[in-house]
Amino acid sequence: MKSPIDIEGWTDGRILEHLQDFARGKYRVLEIGVWKGRSTIAMAQSITGVIYAIDHFLGSPGERETNHREAVSDPLGVYLDFLANIKEYGVGDKVIPMMVESHKVQFYLRCWSLLKPAGVMCGDDFGWKGVKEAVVEFFIERKHGQPMTFVDDKMWVVKKHN
Ligand SMILES: C[S@@+](CC[C@H](N)C(=O)[O-])C[C@H]1O[C@@H](n2cnc3c(N)ncnc32)[C@H](O)[C@@H]1O
Repeated sequence: MKSPIDIEGWTDGRILEHLQDFARGKYRVLEIGVWKGRSTIAMAQSITGVIYAIDHFLGSPGERETNHREAVSDPLGVYLDFLANIKEYGVGDKVIPMMVESHKVQFYLRCWSLLKPAGVMCGDDFGWKGVKEAVVEFFIERKHGQPMTFVDDKMWVVKKHN
């Protein structure tokens, strides 16, 4: 199976392997922060069901003048690259793109209801203030899901209770 490591992104090979392990055999995974699909495609390669791939494709605040500059001038172009990549890797039928703003607790609540028990919700950029606040409030203070796992200092994963 072709590794998506060549797709522009920031998840390294070790993180992709961990994400694939989390997604393996699951019916629903919900990922927040997908960019051009590197981590999404890795999980789609091991999932049984589908991945909701959430991103506004506008880049992360704080990275819009550096890594995500392209998203400021051409967000649709980033989204189209994402679509082209899932097609090229043959996982288009396993990925449901959702072009929306996230990182609000109310949004997490709605996403959470899309997941079946034992599904997985994960995301990037835990280091950013807005992400951290929403994730901590939703999963730690309101106690949704099983204990949070970190694949690295940015990528968080939470499993829904069985
Ligand atoms: C670091 S990138 C994701 C990288 C990707 N997971 C990989 O494998 O390399 C973070 C993504 O989060 C998205 N993002 C940041 N804040 C967001 C928000 N409030 N709502 C939706 N997407 C957001 C950005 O557009 C960007 O594509």
